[in-house]
Amino acid sequence: MKNVFGNALTVTLFGESHGPAIGAVLDGLAPGIKIDEEYISAKMDQRRPVGKISTPRHEADIPEILSGVFGGYTTGTPLCLIIKNENVKSSDYDSVSRLARPSHADLTAKYKYGGFEDYRGGGHFSGRITAALVAAGSIVRKALEDKGIVIGTHIIECAGIKDRGFGAPGADLVSDLAEVNEKAFPVLDEQAAAEMRASIEAAAAEGDSVGGILETAVTGMPCGVGEPWFDTVESMLAHGIFAIPAVKGIEFGAGFDICRMKGSQANDAMKYDDGKVVTETNHSGGINGGITNGMPVLFRTAIKPTASIFKEQHTVDMASGEDAVLQLKGRHDPAIVHRASAVVDAVTALVLADLLTARYGTDYLRG
Ligand SMILES: Cc1cc2nc3c(=O)[nH]c(=O)nc-3n(C[C@H](O)[C@H](O)[C@H](O)COP(=O)(O)O)c2cc1C
Repeated sequence: MKNVFGNALTVTLFGESHGPAIGAVLDGLAPGIKIDEEYISAKMDQRRPVGKISTPRHEADIPEILSGVFGGYTTGTPLCLIIKNENVKSSDYDSVSRLARPSHADLTAKYKYGGFEDYRGGGHFSGRITAALVAAGSIVRKALEDKGIVIGTHIIECAGIKDRGFGAPGADLVSDLAEVNEKAFPVLDEQAAAEMRASIEAAAAEGDSVGGILETAVTGMPCGVGEPWFDTVESMLAHGIFAIPAVKGIEFGAGFDICRMKGSQANDAMKYDDGKVVTETNHSGGINGGITNGMPVLFRTAIKPTASIFKEQHTVDMASGEDAVLQLKGRHDPAIVHRASAVVDAVTALVLADLLTARYGTDYLRG
């Protein structure tokens, strides 16, 4: 069991979807970070379900800070926050105690916890737990922004429909990040956004779901950050991002496509710009040898189609040991990708803050 992540700055997650509350503990935070409630609430809004393309389970999701903050600033001692679960309908999950939902964690949780797991609403494996991750990550993300380190994510692909990439020819990455950070449905191209929404709604109407790919960029990251061999920027980001439910892959820079290039095409040629080393391309995604090179950090995250669909599915009855047919009830997202973008941003902030703290010390994030 491992619900603590990070080294110099750690985050601990706790709670179940239908328990009294979920929450997070941050330890190793600098003292003196201002708690900007408006900022945290805006980031929580980006994870919140919206309209026909999301689950009808709506929660107020207001984080309550129980410790580690005094007079509106972090004290430097463990910060514990909780989010109460209010809109709970456990009766939807009565059959799940017996019928494992395909591609969910019901069966694997039973293997591991031997029937003692809280299966209601996916228990500790629910996407709901990510609300606490977003609240905790937002505290750190704001502190990074105040240092000039800006994180942003958009849906680069959903249901086969593609958005343009960050910083595409003629576009500026800084303004792209500002734009997506204001959007509830973070897509740069409005036409692509409309088509993606329509495809999600069409899947929902059929009782089905769709997946997608998120692209994340970070500007302002200092060069020389990363802890080879095992806590490199790529390994820590991959570790943190893979903890997010429904994530199935991550690629950095040009990603798997780099393997189809020749070295002469793949290499990022270097030059001086105002005394600073920059590269003409960014196929390395801002990282070489696991250490930041001063270019924007760039990666993409694959999000699978929502496992809970309203079509009949073959499964197993874990109580009787027989094959069974499952017809789900309940409230589910026909796509997770738009809500997961805020979670990816939060995890990115926690990972980078941890690595920056390892390099420069706890006080680096102090306001
Ligand atoms: C923000 C967010 C919301 C989610 N909502 C749902 C949902 O409504 N229905 C569902 O089947 N899965 C949802 N998931 C994903 C499941 O929690 C996840 O697929 C499941 O726990 C199995 O984990 P795995 O896909 O990583 O194997 C959500 C994930 C996130 C990040």
